[in-house]
Amino acid sequence: TDLGSLLTKIGVYNFQSLCADFPNAHTQSRPTDIYRLLLTNILANLTGCDAALIYESIQLPNTLPNGDLVLPVPRLRLKGPKPNLHAVELAASFPENQPLFQHPTASGIHLPFFFTPKSLSHLILPYLFERHEAYGRDLTMGLDSSAPTERRKKIIIEFSSPNIAKEFHAGHLRSTIIGAYIANLYESMGWDVTKVNYLGDWGKQFGLLAVGWERFGSEQLLAQEPLKHLLDVYARINALFKPEEEESKKARAEGRDTSEIESRGLYAQRNAYFRRMETGDTDAIALWQRFRDISIDRYIATYARLSIDFDEYSGESQVKSTTVDAVESSLKKKGVYKEHDGSWIIDFEEYGFKGLGTAVVRGRTGSTTYLLRDVAAILERQVKYNFDKMIYVVSCEQDLYFKRVFRTLELMGRSDLAARLQHVNFGKVLGMSSRLGNVQLLGDILDQSRDAMHDVMRRNTTRYAQVEDPESVAESVGISAVMVQDMSGKRINHYPFDITRMTSFEGDTGPYLQYSHARVNSILRKAGLTRQEVAEHCLRHPTSLEEQFSDTPHCVNLLRLIAQYPDVTAAALRNLEPSTILTYLFRLTHQLSSCYDVVQVTGTNEGRDVMLSRAGLYEGARQVLENGMRLLGLTPVDRH
Ligand code: ARG
Repeated sequence: TDLGSLLTKIGVYNFQSLCADFPNAHTQSRPTDIYRLLLTNILANLTGCDAALIYESIQLPNTLPNGDLVLPVPRLRLKGPKPNLHAVELAASFPENQPLFQHPTASGIHLPFFFTPKSLSHLILPYLFERHEAYGRDLTMGLDSSAPTERRKKIIIEFSSPNIAKEFHAGHLRSTIIGAYIANLYESMGWDVTKVNYLGDWGKQFGLLAVGWERFGSEQLLAQEPLKHLLDVYARINALFKPEEEESKKARAEGRDTSEIESRGLYAQRNAYFRRMETGDTDAIALWQRFRDISIDRYIATYARLSIDFDEYSGESQVKSTTVDAVESSLKKKGVYKEHDGSWIIDFEEYGFKGLGTAVVRGRTGSTTYLLRDVAAILERQVKYNFDKMIYVVSCEQDLYFKRVFRTLELMGRSDLAARLQHVNFGKVLGMSSRLGNVQLLGDILDQSRDAMHDVMRRNTTRYAQVEDPESVAESVGISAVMVQDMSGKRINHYPFDITRMTSFEGDTGPYLQYSHARVNSILRKAGLTRQEVAEHCLRHPTSLEEQFSDTPHCVNLLRLIAQYPDVTAAALRNLEPSTILTYLFRLTHQLSSCYDVVQVTGTNEGRDVMLSRAGLYEGARQVLENGMRLLGLTPVDRH
């Protein structure tokens, strides 16, 4: 079935020619663009306005009572009376009996349009079942329109990026969840995505870890629980180091010279070891390499629990010294690199970058800094990937830091490169460690959520008895609990980690979303229907769908929501907010549950065709729910 013939059946005959006029309409991925196209045509005939202007002016209302499309009349810049009068006039002259639109009623300066139930029933489910998991995706978004031959744009998403031998804190958790979502989103929009994990695997703390390893390291413990053991070794040596660090801090605060303090004790050992690493000493590098490899091994296994895999485990250590040299000589040549107190700095204020202060780029002991490594890494990635865009998913605590990184590139004369970079930030999680107890690794966070979820599931004994593999359901649903809690608000908001709330089946939670999916999934199962036969029925008999749904407002509203899903993913690509998808999914599930009492699939005597049509509505909603959940990185469970 092609769109043209589907539309002909309900009395729309000019669709193909309109498509030719509007090559930018996404009619193959967004059903609302079909409506938008036809509405533009009607309004152009009515007003004589430029069709392109009309098309751009038509918007999507944010709630169902406000319509399916809306025209803010002032956007048309019509001459004569006030816009609200124009709105009334347009409504009055709108042609009767349109196949796609109900007769509009003006609302102030707005003209809201409602899709006809007939068209929704005919179009939406067949459209969806032609696409299945591809509904909501749009592979054309990632094509480079300026390229002579078809080319997908390249994007690097850098996320998670924990520090080896250190705690995997809430900031890393959020980066992991949000970053994986953004990567999925760009992939679903046709971009060529590379997922990079930029490990904190370099710096003086590694010198300290190595010193700690000499005293507290155990090969046996390293083999058993490598991440825990490295954490432990680091914690123990760091405890011994703390007093020295305090002493130095105090001296610095009092304006005294700290070099004497830092030339002895653990300070000296740490710095000496890190120097050996930076100068490429074989033994030092070998030990560090072992720690790195073992850690990556464990990370891969843990990320798999979240269905995340990285294309590249990069890290601060991977930056080449030749690139670092190139960065520094460029900064010197531009005259922005200054020597100060034995270190090299950039004074951003001097160049009018207010609030950015001064940053140390190369430290007093001659070691590279986080900033210097980051800038060099950008140059290397540019050579390696020739990316069109690169996104860093990092906590808002590093807002200032990333401004400095991007400005440094500009000061080097690489504004072209800086313009392709974006820091996608997020707020803090309050009280995660204190509420979960002893969590230091990603695996701990996931284990604890799984166990908490398992406890909640056990409380409903009847339902629990029906679950085949409770352990694995608890794992999926527990992970959903953590993720949905994280994605519920705007990224930048802080939120409290609330294990009781997030594992509840009530309210807009992960378990509720999973429950909704399992429930709608059970409808077909109980009716003994397969997804495929339901989809095929809807594709073949769109008219039978009209008979079932067009007089039932709950169903019509569900179809209206289903129709919006591709617009929601398009909006999400612009704002990179997981909550855009999540909020929509909760609206969908609420609408869905309002249909259960009105539309029964089993237990009626109306025959198999009716059963198949009705099942189509539920299967359609289920498919959209699944698509949205997968986009967010959730694994839908079929039963629980
Ligand atoms: N490892 C860093 C941290 O834990 C995050 C790295 C962010 N990415 C970057 N390119 N600086 O804070």
